[in-house]
Amino acid sequence: MIPQEIIRRKRDGGVLEEAQIAFFIEGLTSGVVTEGQAAALAMAIFFRGMTRRECADLTRAMTRSGSMLDWRRADLPGPVVDKHSTGGVGDNISLILAPAVAACGGFVPMISGRGLGHTGGTLDKLESIRGYQATPDEALFTAVVKSVGCAIIGQTGALAPADKRLYAIRDVTATVESIPLITASILSKKLAAGLQGLVMDVKTGSGAFMAALEESRALALSLAEVATTAGLPTVSLITDMNEPLASAAGNAVETLHAIDHLLGAAREPRVQEVVVALGAEMLLLGGLVRDLDEGRRRIEAALDSGAAAERFARMVSALGGPADLLERPRHHLPEAPVTLAVTPQQAGHVRGIDTRAVGLAVVTLGGGRTRPQDPIDHAVGLTHLAGLGAPVGPGQPLALVHARSPEAAQEAAARVLGAYEIGEAPQVGPVVVERLVG
Ligand code: URA
Repeated sequence: MIPQEIIRRKRDGGVLEEAQIAFFIEGLTSGVVTEGQAAALAMAIFFRGMTRRECADLTRAMTRSGSMLDWRRADLPGPVVDKHSTGGVGDNISLILAPAVAACGGFVPMISGRGLGHTGGTLDKLESIRGYQATPDEALFTAVVKSVGCAIIGQTGALAPADKRLYAIRDVTATVESIPLITASILSKKLAAGLQGLVMDVKTGSGAFMAALEESRALALSLAEVATTAGLPTVSLITDMNEPLASAAGNAVETLHAIDHLLGAAREPRVQEVVVALGAEMLLLGGLVRDLDEGRRRIEAALDSGAAAERFARMVSALGGPADLLERPRHHLPEAPVTLAVTPQQAGHVRGIDTRAVGLAVVTLGGGRTRPQDPIDHAVGLTHLAGLGAPVGPGQPLALVHARSPEAAQEAAARVLGAYEIGEAPQVGPVVVERLVG
């Protein structure tokens, strides 16, 4: 087979055969297919799309491009389930959800990513904890999942290497926002992780990669259908990203926010609802509960009893972090030297938020990356972010900026101010917008 003939077929709107997709992905992994050819095929897919069958074939080929985890060997006394989010702002759900599900008898080997564009990454948040080992070897990863019930780590080079190569090419060729390519990219890693059930948290709204509900719905359905066809039962929840999910955005500040939630020191209703809704789905997929109502009650109980907090603490210390993180979180998380309140001139209610711009304010503070290899500043970020409908004004700030310098704080404050529309309070919809099953 000839790579350029495969590209030509897709370029002209044709449907690729399974063997052609497998050949191209094998070539991408071995180096026979060049970066230019992979970029050209990605662009052809971006414009021409793929049928569900082609997308499933692409997902399968990328899954097989590396090694696959087999949890049967670990002899776990419960189901292996996971959650994946398409990325948002103030989305620290994984830090609360994984230990909550573990406390209910599930096993969660969560392989997470770093921040991308305006969105934060779970891995960056955890790496704000001094000593946390985000890239343990497979033996330690397996041992922590087995003994604690959850481990949140970074992508290993061994799982779905074809995706790693293709993603890096897509990132620099404006071919990320394609439903079949996103579907195959996410699911190849999840299938290689040997899961029994997956819940997808597909974001919609001003802080999501797919801002329009129609697009989010199409992605949610594609993920649920392709995964379920490939033998991984999957449910997608579409959740709202028209405002930051938590009132904190940044790395250490979101970790601290998650710890407060786990300990019950402060529980924001929107964060609680997403954790409970996703957790109930994971327990149902894992056969640990009879229905979603029972699942919700179990997750709530795991949070209220402190069992979820205890699992989180054990996971952190098993992966090299401090044993007393929950007792002294501020001691183990970096703090920015400068804080600045963002105060609007006129009083009113928060009418609208450009959530993407809020995420970019964190990036400009140094809390995110503009290039994959960039280092980040874990201490900076935003807290006390006002949500939609909140009263704000000269005496009621929109947010608190945590910055490395006064100049950086001023710049971020101006960005946050520009991201907020003040006026009449809007109608605010539910945080869980829709549920789609494959
Ligand atoms: N996350 C991924 O892992 N892949 C994509 O293509 C987009 C988001």
